[in-house]
Amino acid sequence: MTMILGIETTCDETAVSIVEDGVRILSEVTSLQIDLHARFGGVVPELAARRHLELMIPTLEKTLEQSSLKKEEIDAIAVAQGPGLIGAILIGLNTAKALSLAWNVPLIGVNHIEAHLYSAMMNEAFQPSSFLPALGLVLSGGHTSLVLVRAVGDYELLGQTRDDAMGEAFDKVSKMLNLPYPGGPYIEKEALKGDPSAFAFKPCQIKEAPLDFSFSGLKTSVSHALKKLDQPLTDSIISDIAASFQRAAIQSVCKRLELALETTPDIKSVILGGGVTCNEALRKALTPIAHPLPIFWPKKEHCLDNAAMIAGLGFHKLQQKPCGDFLDIPALTTIPFSS
Ligand code: KG4
Ligand code: ZN
Repeated sequence: MTMILGIETTCDETAVSIVEDGVRILSEVTSLQIDLHARFGGVVPELAARRHLELMIPTLEKTLEQSSLKKEEIDAIAVAQGPGLIGAILIGLNTAKALSLAWNVPLIGVNHIEAHLYSAMMNEAFQPSSFLPALGLVLSGGHTSLVLVRAVGDYELLGQTRDDAMGEAFDKVSKMLNLPYPGGPYIEKEALKGDPSAFAFKPCQIKEAPLDFSFSGLKTSVSHALKKLDQPLTDSIISDIAASFQRAAIQSVCKRLELALETTPDIKSVILGGGVTCNEALRKALTPIAHPLPIFWPKKEHCLDNAAMIAGLGFHKLQQKPCGDFLDIPALTTIPFSS
């Protein structure tokens, strides 16, 4: 039995979790900061870092208490070293370094995007020998990537966004429609009431790199449609725009997944991760495209940023490579998605 304590502070969630053997969650506590950033319509990096500093120790203490473990029973610390907001990451990383030193246990730096993908594999039903290689899609507020997953830790990037991330596009369109932040869940809710064919928004295609994504054109189409309106923005227009935008955004993902499945041999499953995978319309649209292959989604509570995915992935990283000098682990604003 290996107990890993994971820490996540790359954006605006202060999260700590303890996971046994990469899959069994003993405890997890996530402290949200939405109230702090909502009035600015997005995360303010400096405020996020300061709030992480206030929340870090209480969140850590609550997680340990919830697990009923003593600190001597923790075998290693895993921490999200990026990508994300540098000031925010540094709070989690320096806490992790201090704990590693004080408790005399190894420290593992984990890639936050890779951890989002791992969150779908984090259940006992997922047997790597049956379901890998897989196609993996990370759809979050900061990243949109399509990857070939050969094994946990062995990836090939097949496509990524050239501009906005998918969640970022949801957030920006939501702002244009005067909906609250973060926008994804509000767009999804409005879309349920709207007509997805009311506005002819088109998913973007990139001829020379058909597996790459782009959402900025779609966002601009929404902005133009709003400028062209010859009537006030009513509730029903908001719902229609949300539904039409959401359909086009989801179609972008469907097309790329379809093409990747056609062109990548020996795929055994599809794996999803990131905040946008909360979206039920996305789940409904992608499942038949993957069929007859199984599609693995994170549990709803692990779609958004969380520390269980960091601790879970940390277990595999601990086995794969010896930890060097933990004080050398840097905070990184970007990390290329590769093995
Ligand atoms: O993975 P995540 O927590 O943070 C990053 O690593 O970026 O994702 C947050 C993103 C936000 O952009 C949010 O609007 C989006 O996930 N999101 C959704 C939904 N719930 C959250 N997007 C579409 N539909 C949703 N239901
Ligand atoms: Zn994330």
